[in-house]
Amino acid sequence: MKHIYLNNAATTWPKPPAVADAVYRFMTQDGANVSRGSASERDLKSLGLLFAAREQAAELFGGYENAAPQYVTFTQNVTHSLNIVLKGCLKKGMRVLTTSVEHNSVIRPLRELEANGVRVEIMPCSQKGFLSPQTLDEALKERADLVVMTHCSNVCGSLQPIEEAALICGRHGVPFVVDCAQTAGIIDINVSKLGISALCFTGHKGLMGPQGTGGIVWQPDFADRCSPLAVGGTGSLSHEETQPGIMPDKFEAGTPNLPGLAGLSAAMEYIKDKTPAAIAETERKLGERLEEGLLRINGLHITGALRGEGPRLPVYSFNIEGKDNGILARSLSDIYGIESRPGLHCSPLAHRTLGTFPQGALRLSPGCFNTEEEIDLTVEAVKELQKSR
Ligand SMILES: Cc1ncc(COP(=O)(O)O)c(C=O)c1O
Repeated sequence: MKHIYLNNAATTWPKPPAVADAVYRFMTQDGANVSRGSASERDLKSLGLLFAAREQAAELFGGYENAAPQYVTFTQNVTHSLNIVLKGCLKKGMRVLTTSVEHNSVIRPLRELEANGVRVEIMPCSQKGFLSPQTLDEALKERADLVVMTHCSNVCGSLQPIEEAALICGRHGVPFVVDCAQTAGIIDINVSKLGISALCFTGHKGLMGPQGTGGIVWQPDFADRCSPLAVGGTGSLSHEETQPGIMPDKFEAGTPNLPGLAGLSAAMEYIKDKTPAAIAETERKLGERLEEGLLRINGLHITGALRGEGPRLPVYSFNIEGKDNGILARSLSDIYGIESRPGLHCSPLAHRTLGTFPQGALRLSPGCFNTEEEIDLTVEAVKELQKSR
């Protein structure tokens, strides 16, 4: 049976071969800890690897001049990044705004903070999954301390107007945090040009790196105002019993995921070479082909915006009348070897907004290594399942 991977919104697969090679090299040859050795050649190589990865991330996301690359923090994933940022800056009595299509990696930390006295307000998005800039502008007429939003919905692929949102936040003097889980490596984002306070990314989706990697690209003043989530050994200022305030050490207590970061560094090199624009174009074409095919299937309803109804990435969720999306996913996998993702996608609020709560939807998300043939085979498979009893 042919195997077709269409769950790239969960994690991209396959990864470029250079990523696995870099992890293997680190595990079998390099392998020294960072800033925690005798400054041997191998120690310095690890330090060099980490600094090179910071430089790459700063370059990829347009890190603030004079601040990059030390204002790049590496984390385990974007969930970890968002927890660092949200819990590091929001205190009792503060007001935070977010949208109604967020992933639980934003909503759950906010609900926890709410229980501790932070005012959380959810700005409503349209049923197609878009936030209007006017809604944000209106909400900011009352003083807020932070705005956090996803760049792209992991349910319906809708892209939020982060350029306008950054301008509006800038005008109101409110820090702006973006969850770039679905867009990092696919859409060019320049934090310093836009004035983003913290860009949170995960390494294993569009960046094509290993799981267990992620990060934050900070605006320096904002980072300086946030407190760290975890404190401990940094390999620096070891005579002090309190966490160093210097970057990047402030937010990076404990040994980093060096094998993962070796892989992420190779992945960022690959993306720089291919360019995010070329990757996005390949995925856009595959997505449009998928959308066209799905729209021809009786009783199939795509969630969110269709082509021409608003900016989106090729993340397609749908339901078929009379069919359970979990059973459909299972049949796609068992009968046709097609990997998808059913259910609520860790985004119950988004599904409520899009009208697919509590049943959720079946999600297909092509990546740049899929082919047109795979898309056509998938459409045929969904068509057969729709007809089956
Ligand atoms: C929009 C969005 N935010 C956050 C996450 C969480 O990503 P991670 O599990 O890598 O922390 C995801 C993953 O699906 C996502 O799509």
